[in-house]
Amino acid sequence: MIYNIGSINADFFYHVSHIPMPGETLVASKVERGLGGKGANQSVAMINAGSEVCHLGAVGEDGSWLIDQLRALGVDTTNVIKLLGASGHAIITMEKDGENAITTFGGANHLISTDQVNSWLAPISSSDWLVLQNETSQQSNAANLASLRGAHVVYSAAPFDAEVVAEILPFVDILCVNEIEAAELTSHFKVKNLKEIGVSAILTTLGSRGATYQDFKTGLEIRVEGITVSSVDTTGAGDTFCGYFVALLSQGKDPLEALTFANKAAALKVTKLGTANAIPNLAEVLEFNAR
Ligand code: RIB
Repeated sequence: MIYNIGSINADFFYHVSHIPMPGETLVASKVERGLGGKGANQSVAMINAGSEVCHLGAVGEDGSWLIDQLRALGVDTTNVIKLLGASGHAIITMEKDGENAITTFGGANHLISTDQVNSWLAPISSSDWLVLQNETSQQSNAANLASLRGAHVVYSAAPFDAEVVAEILPFVDILCVNEIEAAELTSHFKVKNLKEIGVSAILTTLGSRGATYQDFKTGLEIRVEGITVSSVDTTGAGDTFCGYFVALLSQGKDPLEALTFANKAAALKVTKLGTANAIPNLAEVLEFNAR
């Protein structure tokens, strides 16, 4: 079983000609709302990749529609709680070519308590996986508990905060970063190679140039090249990549096969508008694979 203590956001997409400069006011040509949050997106990606996922997360009093959408996309929401106050949300400013700038507000995602995490993770054991991103409270506690039970812990260091990574790192088996975050980590830890920061394995996404996976325990280093597609929306591509990769690894797939499929899933995602609802399912990825 994959447990995901993951953020759930209302994503508001503002379609604009360009990302505004400081002090500039822009008129959006269109506004849309949908389910997002790095956690919710990763749960949907893992479900679509054929895994069993238990989403552990929180919404505010306004968040019934978010739970409904998550459930409609096939995620087990039995353990998603509703807290006083507002749900998390994201303002996604989107350029015509699919480039974006995102501002998030944590809301209920940041109100998850230690007791809640202890109760959610009571059944976790060594055959399970715990997936986390930097959009909820209690990340280190959760990672520590899961690690003590021998579960595989995967952490996406996004939105990036080097101090938070440093705190959670001792409990993490696979760290997921993009290349900017990888460079920031190298500088924060004052190392030449990320191998020196002490994590077992790192997945580094390289945007349109593909991704690498390094397993420092086995010495495996693999890379997939980016796939050229006509991009309309890059939001959630990293979540799609990470979700697919972890799901397939947890199913016992070879890392290269998992990386190859995740790369295709992320490439397909950027051809569609939206976040959680735009993550391709396995049949779509298989069809893309066969082309
Ligand atoms: O990675 C994309 C996600 O980042 C969006 O869905 C948004 O909610 C932010 O959390």
